[in-house]
Amino acid sequence: MTRTALVTGASRGIGLEIARRLADDGWNLTISARTESTLTEAATTLRERSQGEVCAVVADMASEGDVLALAAAHRERFGRLDALVLNAGMGSIGPIAEFPIRRFDKLIAVNVRSAYLLIQQLLPTLRETAGTTGSSRVIAISSLTGTASEPLNSAYGASKAALTSLCETVNTEESLGGVSATALCPGYVATDMTAPLTGDVPADTMIDPVEIAELAVGLTRLGRSAVIPAIPISRPGPLVWRV
Ligand SMILES: NC(=O)c1ccc[n+]([C@@H]2O[C@H](COP(=O)([O-])OP(=O)(O)OC[C@H]3O[C@@H](n4cnc5c(N)ncnc54)[C@H](OP(=O)(O)O)[C@@H]3O)[C@@H](O)[C@H]2O)c1
Repeated sequence: MTRTALVTGASRGIGLEIARRLADDGWNLTISARTESTLTEAATTLRERSQGEVCAVVADMASEGDVLALAAAHRERFGRLDALVLNAGMGSIGPIAEFPIRRFDKLIAVNVRSAYLLIQQLLPTLRETAGTTGSSRVIAISSLTGTASEPLNSAYGASKAALTSLCETVNTEESLGGVSATALCPGYVATDMTAPLTGDVPADTMIDPVEIAELAVGLTRLGRSAVIPAIPISRPGPLVWRV
């Protein structure tokens, strides 16, 4: 049977790299993002390089209805889930003293609530797949800021700390049944999200998204006996826990 993944935020950046790598390995994919044109373009590119099927679903992770519809679309199309890649996310910086609470709510909705809902909705499918193959995985793209906090990143860091914690709890509840979760926690990755920073932080000093995809694909090759709650990924140099 063909292995199957759902990748959110797969129209560009880290999500597209992960989808590309899985497509190269012949996986069936459900991909999602908000912007139909770039998502359709990504789906076309993925179909050109894969034997697997690619199902593209426009969905805003801030919308509960869209998240539920995305989970249902994947279940109905494939009925199996080897890897749930929780990648869609947004960033926003500002001092706590002035950070607009509505932006905080949006960050939590997109970066954590959607992930929680997708796990909840798709856990029966993940369990069923693990029951047949031995294992299935949740892979969440978290951040080093969720592990070690930094000024101006209070809301984003809190959302990513929650996402990392969510992965740990999935492991405590589900890993004996073969469903495990890993939070990938990188520093700056060279994508559209960090493009505004390149004046201060050159893109060639950032992590290449291809490396994050490599780690994600590596996780899908592991069996059920290795439960890996989180992987911190630093940029080269003395920064270690700083993004
Ligand atoms: N880049 C970094 O330095 C870095 C470091 C650590 C962690 N991360 C995390 O890695 C993940 C991917 O980041 P990236 O750098 O690859 O970002 P990116 O290049 O900006 O790509 C973001 C992807 O997510 C989609 N997306 C954004 N908001 C969405 C929403 N509300 N609903 C559904 N889809 C949405 C985007 O498509 P649409 O805009 O069309 O929706 C796009 O496909 C994020 O969770 C981010 O927090 C990034």
